[in-house]
Amino acid sequence: MNITFSKISIPTQGVVVVGVSEGSGSGAKLGAAAAKLDKQTRGVLSRAMKAADFSGKREKTLALVVPEGTKLSRIVLVGLGSLKSLDAVAAERIGAVIYDTVSKDPAATVILESEGAVDNALLAAHLAGGIGLKSYRFAKYHTKDDKDARPKLKSVAVQCENPTEAKKRYVAVEAVVDGVFLTRDLVTEPPNVIYPVSFVTRAKELTKDGVKVEALGVAAMTKLGMGALLGVGQGSARESQLLVMRWDGAKDKSAAPLAIVGKGVTFDTGGISLKPPAGMWDMKWDMGGAGVVVGLMRALARRKAPVNVVGLCGLVENMPDGNAQRPGDVVTSMSGQTIEVLNTDAEGRLVLADVLWYAQQRFKPKAIVDLATLTGAIIAALSEHYAGIFSNNDDLSAKLIAAGQAVSERLWRFPMGDEYDRDIKSPIADMKNIGGPRAGSITAAQFLQRFIKDVPWAHLDIAGVVWNEKGTALAAGGSTGYGVRLLNRFIADNYEK
Ligand code: BES
Ligand code: MN
Ligand code: ZN
Repeated sequence: MNITFSKISIPTQGVVVVGVSEGSGSGAKLGAAAAKLDKQTRGVLSRAMKAADFSGKREKTLALVVPEGTKLSRIVLVGLGSLKSLDAVAAERIGAVIYDTVSKDPAATVILESEGAVDNALLAAHLAGGIGLKSYRFAKYHTKDDKDARPKLKSVAVQCENPTEAKKRYVAVEAVVDGVFLTRDLVTEPPNVIYPVSFVTRAKELTKDGVKVEALGVAAMTKLGMGALLGVGQGSARESQLLVMRWDGAKDKSAAPLAIVGKGVTFDTGGISLKPPAGMWDMKWDMGGAGVVVGLMRALARRKAPVNVVGLCGLVENMPDGNAQRPGDVVTSMSGQTIEVLNTDAEGRLVLADVLWYAQQRFKPKAIVDLATLTGAIIAALSEHYAGIFSNNDDLSAKLIAAGQAVSERLWRFPMGDEYDRDIKSPIADMKNIGGPRAGSITAAQFLQRFIKDVPWAHLDIAGVVWNEKGTALAAGGSTGYGVRLLNRFIADNYEK
């Protein structure tokens, strides 16, 4: 999408989208440019708004085709809602709505008047970001093009009060959009294309953005004693990988980094504890956590974030095979703790156990956040509306929840404690990899916590939010990219100086 910012000046042709705010009590309020258009069309705008009962309510639209008095093909009015509550997330969502109304046009002009009541430049930048986010499509495997279904929008001119400032702000917004797109690409790719080694290959493209990328294979992980991660991958023909990405953007390059860890099960059949066939294809996105980590690294690098962050992904394929691990196997993790693997489908926690330990040993991070499509139980609890957060630290947890609120990627905190931890005691090893039939998301988090030393840690169970068939406010359908904007905001608000 080609986005440009310019001063407000009503175009003479094509499609123009005009933001209309909701006045207090008396319905829609036209800005100066909108009022001028109304005059030019001899009052068509105000008559149409009245006839359609359009009050400028946020995200409502009203399209006027070939309005008289102009050579425009369409004027689309879009409700901004009240200017007081118009913030960056609201602007993003309005941008997404605008995208849907003009996606079949090759180009459009958007006029955003907010009369100085709010930070117009910031809103313009985020409105543009929303247009970008909603435009994402994954069409590379279509060999026949459905011309009618295909979006055509290539460029959008955003007119606003301070285009120079909006353009500046957009640099960081666009970096995040790029990151979200990368995450969506990785998550959407089929599992015969994205497997541990090919995932690493994709991640290596980040070196162009200035990220240091390295990967450990089975030999290196064996040396480190990562028996938990390696056990999961041992039934696969694809070699397991541990991906390490570093963005050292802080002034002090040696300052302790923040560590972000992702579950990267590139396909989860369940292993010998095989999943039922219906919907098993879903498990191509069991690498969603890892996908977020890579997209986040791109966003941080492209906006040159002044912070040190290390991103780590445990990449494995969980397959049943003559060499696969069996229910009942006991494995030894890098931490030295032993695990009785009672269900080979509870594999994500086994992978994370070793990656979390490695992250702490090698990087001594100030805090660790992991993201994982860890449990079906989190979907039962929260559906697609929130991801679950589990943490050993109230402050870290509050900061993540606040960042999620600010970008509308919401988190809901679950309790943890010894009463849950008891459920993963094993008679023959230090722990087992499944709890009882209840509180499955919490016992999974308790398992992870056994691999956390004395460091603030939060685990985000994103199983319900990585993929959304129907689409969301900012995604057309399929992979959402949930988590990139959240963590970007969390880092920007709390770790950058
Ligand atoms: N990847 C799944 C969790 C999952 C399920 C993600 C559905 C997205 C949609 C995970 O590896 C898994 O299989 N978890 C099991 C754990 C159980 C065996 C203790 C589950 O949730 O059923
Ligand atoms: Mn599983
Ligand atoms: Zn899984």
